[in-house]
Amino acid sequence: MDTIILSDWLHARLDRAHAEPMYRQVLDLMQQAILTGQLAPGTKLPSSRTLAADLEIARNTVLHVYDQLTAEGYVISSTGSGTYVADTRPQEARPPVDNVGPKKPCALSKRGARLIGQAGVSPKQWGAFMPGVPDVAEFPARTWSRLQARLWKRASPELLTYAPGGGYRPLRRALSDYLRVARSVKCSPDQIVITTGIHQSIDLAVRLLTDFGDRAWVEEPCYWGVRSVLQSSGLTLVPIPVDGEGLNPLERDMREPPRLALVTPSHQYPLGMVMSLARRRSLLEFARQHDVWIIEDDYDSEFRYGSRPLASLQGLDEAGQVIYVGSLGKMLFPGLRMGYMVVPEQLVDTFRTGIAELYREGQLMQQAVLTEFIMDGYLTSHVRRMRTLYGERRQLLIDSITAHFGDTLDVMGDEAGLHLVLGLPDGTDDRAVAAAALDAGVVTRPLANYYVDQASARPGLMLGYACVPNEQIGPAFETLANVIEKAIAPADARRHRKVASR
Ligand SMILES: Cc1ncc(COP(=O)(O)O)c(C=O)c1O
Repeated sequence: MDTIILSDWLHARLDRAHAEPMYRQVLDLMQQAILTGQLAPGTKLPSSRTLAADLEIARNTVLHVYDQLTAEGYVISSTGSGTYVADTRPQEARPPVDNVGPKKPCALSKRGARLIGQAGVSPKQWGAFMPGVPDVAEFPARTWSRLQARLWKRASPELLTYAPGGGYRPLRRALSDYLRVARSVKCSPDQIVITTGIHQSIDLAVRLLTDFGDRAWVEEPCYWGVRSVLQSSGLTLVPIPVDGEGLNPLERDMREPPRLALVTPSHQYPLGMVMSLARRRSLLEFARQHDVWIIEDDYDSEFRYGSRPLASLQGLDEAGQVIYVGSLGKMLFPGLRMGYMVVPEQLVDTFRTGIAELYREGQLMQQAVLTEFIMDGYLTSHVRRMRTLYGERRQLLIDSITAHFGDTLDVMGDEAGLHLVLGLPDGTDDRAVAAAALDAGVVTRPLANYYVDQASARPGLMLGYACVPNEQIGPAFETLANVIEKAIAPADARRHRKVASR
């Protein structure tokens, strides 16, 4: 933009009827023009007299603006020669002096590059069939806001300052009661540490209990978020296969015990099997013999359809090797960012100090609201109501799958949780199917994204049903089914059509 265009550009944007003084408006606009590069470094500004005349404003206003721009370093004035736009670009954004030579490589660390390179987080977090998201529209927001308003009326300084100590004591008491009854977790309130969710709980455990280069067992396949957290701490991931009974380490895996094993025994993520009692006991015994820490990720077992929720692995642990982590994100709403860990007694002080050192705890007010929400029975009644609702949605989705594909595609992991897995025929590129589905407006996650070793990946799609209103499930699956039919081999598609028309 040259200086002649500058007056036109300002003219068009000044709002003379606005309450904001003219001085402020001109200053903001000129700063914006300089920061965005519309007024390039070195551009000579019009004299204050000319600009004032062009804009039909007082010359003093323009002089004030130029003084302020000079004081803040946006322009440089030199008596006699005029006022020029200063070069305020950071050094690296300026063109190289001689414009030759190789481009500077992006200076990410190796682990930074790996984290970003394999990032699993999706920009879309809502809609059919987003996995892992509860129906936040059903959250009893009025109740929450009433409890919140009441507590804010008597907000004490203790609730509003930093909060070292593992979280709000009454919440730790309420959660330990809940976990003892609902999940057979053996714990006292002291063993509970409140976190911002499972991601932070695992991050904290890894930082306190492992060293760079240590080996960590993860289930194959496993949650991408866990993989990212472990790898960012420099752990070497050892993928351990799962079968119908859960984690199934081979003889050679057992010969090299890891420092840490991360498991989802109640509802394997993402495939959905439950770890058998025999496997639980042998994992605990192995961990005891070899000083392995076990992290039990119990992310969604409140939602079981048909059978009762299973007891936790932590409840069987006699040696204090298990760190149990859970989240309120699935029970209430993910944006709450609240979770808890239950640490063995011998680690209580370490974890309380560690969390305060690393993340500077707070949010006691939010924790106090949650405490009342639990104590007044709202958590239990909300979870009960959601279990019924999600159970209906799960059935609607299974009915849609059966209507389209009969039993030609496997449905896995539908006994519990907020999602199921739809298996695709061997050889299908599930990432391509998920991308085509997204183009058609349906969110799914390809199973391939969850495998550390792509050679062992079997194709499939994760379908979250919890956040999809009942009436949208059929139409959304119809759209998805069209995408799937186009993607799988013609022979398969013919078979599916025959089955569906029976
Ligand atoms: C297996 C598993 N663990 C942990 C999480 C994340 O929990 P949070 O939101 O509490 O960090 C998820 C979210 O989908 C998950 O599927």
